[in-house]
Amino acid sequence: MLNEKTLNIKLKLKRKEDIKIIDFEYIKRFENERPMALDVLLQAQETSLDDIAFRYGCRARNCGVCTIDVNDKPRLACRARVKEGDTLSPIATLPVVKDFIVKRDGIARQMQGYNNISLKNDLNIEADSAYHNLTACIECYACLDGCPLHKKNNLEVKDNNNAYSFGNPFSFLKLQRLYIDPLTPESEKLKIIEKAKNLGLETYRREYKDLKIKCGVGINLKDEVIKPLLVVAFGDDFEKKNK
Ligand code: FES
Repeated sequence: MLNEKTLNIKLKLKRKEDIKIIDFEYIKRFENERPMALDVLLQAQETSLDDIAFRYGCRARNCGVCTIDVNDKPRLACRARVKEGDTLSPIATLPVVKDFIVKRDGIARQMQGYNNISLKNDLNIEADSAYHNLTACIECYACLDGCPLHKKNNLEVKDNNNAYSFGNPFSFLKLQRLYIDPLTPESEKLKIIEKAKNLGLETYRREYKDLKIKCGVGINLKDEVIKPLLVVAFGDDFEKKNK
């Protein structure tokens, strides 16, 4: 019978080349508590594992830095409830620095040289809802999971910028958002599409139908990011294809 006062959670930790699985007994703070994964990590740190490494910021689904895998699927640790027997591990799609900390810069660096394209000094211009939907992204990187393109990156080997060569739904979201940003000059749009092509957008063209990319905060990445980019970059006509 399950102990009603505790939960057994497996913590899969990676330190250097070693992988260690620790059975942690979470002590419930009140009857029927269903703690978040972050509660478990915080209690582990307070009690038996004071050197365990993990990241968190807002604790409210706003900053995206707390993403870990729960039973091998990416989840925001501050919002993912855990149950008896669950396994927590670092996200599998990025290299691990220590325990639950992963190296995130290879993704951010893909946008080097593109962050200042839009003219950020005219805030009176209204953007439409497609743009605003994309601003909900919190950069949690849950979308890397299952991405056929990101899989092609050798996670330890980067190009000269230390950026991954192949893109991912997040980097394409940034490009699409830039493309439809009313503050982006028309003269820069071709450059944005070329960048999307250089990051391997064409792969999605072949796999679009079966693409199963999931966003940590519910953005429809397939239809709101990948599809419009494919339409502009390759003139794909999805309406026709679906007939
Ligand atoms: S701590 Fe900010 S999203 Fe989880």
